[in-house]
Amino acid sequence: MLTVMQNLSSEEMIRLEDRYGAHNYHPLPVVLSKGEGVYVWDVEGKKYFDFLSAYSAVNQGHCHPKIVQALIEQSKELTLTSRAFYNDSLGHYEKFVCEYFGFDKVLPMNTGAEAVETAIKLCRKWAYEKKGIAENQAKIIVCDGNFHGRTTTIVSFSNDPDANTNFGPFTPGFIRIPYNDVAALEKALQAPDVAGFLVEPIQGEAGVYVPSDGYLAEAKALCEKHHALFIADEVQTGIARTGKLLAVHHENVTPDILILGKALSGGVYPVSAVLANDPIMEVIKPGQHGSTFGGNPVAAKVAIAALEVIQEEALAENAEELGTLFRQKMNELIAESDLIVKVRGKGLLNAIIVNDSPESSTAWDLCVQLKENGLLAKPTHGNIIRFAPPLVMNEEQLMECVEIIRTTVLNFKK
Ligand SMILES: Cc1ncc(COP(=O)(O)O)c(C=O)c1O
Repeated sequence: MLTVMQNLSSEEMIRLEDRYGAHNYHPLPVVLSKGEGVYVWDVEGKKYFDFLSAYSAVNQGHCHPKIVQALIEQSKELTLTSRAFYNDSLGHYEKFVCEYFGFDKVLPMNTGAEAVETAIKLCRKWAYEKKGIAENQAKIIVCDGNFHGRTTTIVSFSNDPDANTNFGPFTPGFIRIPYNDVAALEKALQAPDVAGFLVEPIQGEAGVYVPSDGYLAEAKALCEKHHALFIADEVQTGIARTGKLLAVHHENVTPDILILGKALSGGVYPVSAVLANDPIMEVIKPGQHGSTFGGNPVAAKVAIAALEVIQEEALAENAEELGTLFRQKMNELIAESDLIVKVRGKGLLNAIIVNDSPESSTAWDLCVQLKENGLLAKPTHGNIIRFAPPLVMNEEQLMECVEIIRTTVLNFKK
């Protein structure tokens, strides 16, 4: 009989994954078995500050009691009906999430990539049926350095060789322009058959690139002028991470299509969503899009709880305040050390740039050292380290983290 081995050490667990799991990730060598709030523990019982929050899925902190309770209660009643039938949770969630973000309708999915795919399909269908673009001609403008997920269509318009090498043939219908370049957008919008502009309000995965003030507002205005949909991928930047409920709110922008995932469930369950107003959403008719798990009762209850926590605990305000303090402290460290050259970000989505080439292992080695000192973070694209702690962090904890980073940087030897 097959048995599951118990009580393995970190090293044994890593060997197990290495042997039986596809090697599509390169994790930091730490094996976690428990999480609470801003902390996680490894299988040997060592405690760490989580400074990644599962790529901003755990904004509400690990195992938030209210969200976990919603999961437990609903999973004892009804977990999945599929959308072949109605369930008594989905409608409540749909109303709640639409009012929360200010849209007429929501289309529920599970993962971020699925929600992006949904937005692309919605935008194309709107272009044919409402804008009058000729069949199969619709183009969506995207940005260099984008990261919207891993499906075949999404990697089709990535310019990251890791994302797309040997995964072709690719889906056509995308125009890629430089990020944070209004003139390039204006020019691209003049091409025939443009249906929409898909953009991350801050490019998280690429290395926390914050566009110039005004970029998003100008981009939205240009889209309106050219009757193209402004599609905001807030899977990573949304739900209080950058110091506002949505990162587009920093510029008072309302997207035509809003894409959410990750922290929509507080990291408790895969929940994603696409929101839009009726003139756009009504182009999707029964049978034209869906997902077996999308909109299931557990997801619905978990998402309501996760969004309530954001408001009840004023997490956007906390992210704004602590983020400003964090960047100030990192700038002080930059003055003390030549290992870090820059800090950038908004709210509690930040990155530091390590003074070495993207090909060097310095950022990775620094993360390994940070881990030894009790803080977990990971490089993104070579010499960039993203720092995104749970938003339930308090100032005292943040200062403890700053001290760990400071000591690690000042004592770091290559
Ligand atoms: C901006 C953005 N969009 C989409 C995704 C994809 O989400 P998922 O990994 O849940 O498919 C990510 C994931 O990091 C993301 O950062």
